[in-house]
Amino acid sequence: MQNRYKVTAAIYKGLMDHIDYRLWSDYLYKVHMVHKGKNMSALEIACGQGDMAEFLSKKFSVYFASDLSKEMLLSAKVPHNAFVCDMRNLPVRFIPNLILMTFDSINYLLSYRDLKACFDEIRSLMDYNTNFIFDISLEKNSLKFWRVLNRKGDFNGYFFQQHSRYDARKHLHFNRFDIQSDELGSIREEHIQRIYSVDEMKSALRVSGLEIVGLYDGFSLKPLKSDSFRAQFIIKVNNAKN
Ligand SMILES: C[S@@+](CC[C@H](N)C(=O)[O-])C[C@H]1O[C@@H](n2cnc3c(N)ncnc32)[C@H](O)[C@@H]1O
Repeated sequence: MQNRYKVTAAIYKGLMDHIDYRLWSDYLYKVHMVHKGKNMSALEIACGQGDMAEFLSKKFSVYFASDLSKEMLLSAKVPHNAFVCDMRNLPVRFIPNLILMTFDSINYLLSYRDLKACFDEIRSLMDYNTNFIFDISLEKNSLKFWRVLNRKGDFNGYFFQQHSRYDARKHLHFNRFDIQSDELGSIREEHIQRIYSVDEMKSALRVSGLEIVGLYDGFSLKPLKSDSFRAQFIIKVNNAKN
């Protein structure tokens, strides 16, 4: 478990340097507030290196972040309250006002069964004051951008090569990373993400007792379109009195 995403942790900042997390966190906070969110407590799942936590944690009285990868958490630029855990098995006892998962993290769950396990776990941490906010990458995104993700470069003393491909029959997106550095030698790591349809998500959410109260075209408050690249979900427990 400790070595999960070790390669990515080493080069993540280099891979993500085009992402404006300040702007993105402002958007997510706005979405939370539009849906009558409260700002006492937040739990971020699959937070990676805590780039979102760096900004969002300032807006909540209590902010906890978690990820499957210890390396990702330890390489955070700004330290935050963080713990290692799998999104299907959350060792949490409080009921947060916001449960957040960003940047296709849920796409790392490769089966409907895993998806349901994750949603059941999250549902057990929610009450009518909780917004669960997450995004998914849609098939159009994989079809359009897989070529761009075949890249190589240097970051922080690491030479990396990324090989990306999308298997449209299996709905799986593969990203293989090879890096070389004095510190780590040569390492290969493969990330596999399942590209779910919006209907598959809707069905898994419904079965877990979760209700979609907002479904937006990624990074906006506009309704999701049939040709969207990313979907932003805002979820409450069923029968929540808003
Ligand atoms: C694409 S990164 C996104 C990181 C962060 N949310 C961001 O926006 O920068 C996906 C993250 O999901 C984490 N992850 C993958 N599978 C996971 C699981 N089963 N449970 C918890 N985290 C997981 C990875 O370690 C990685 O940090």
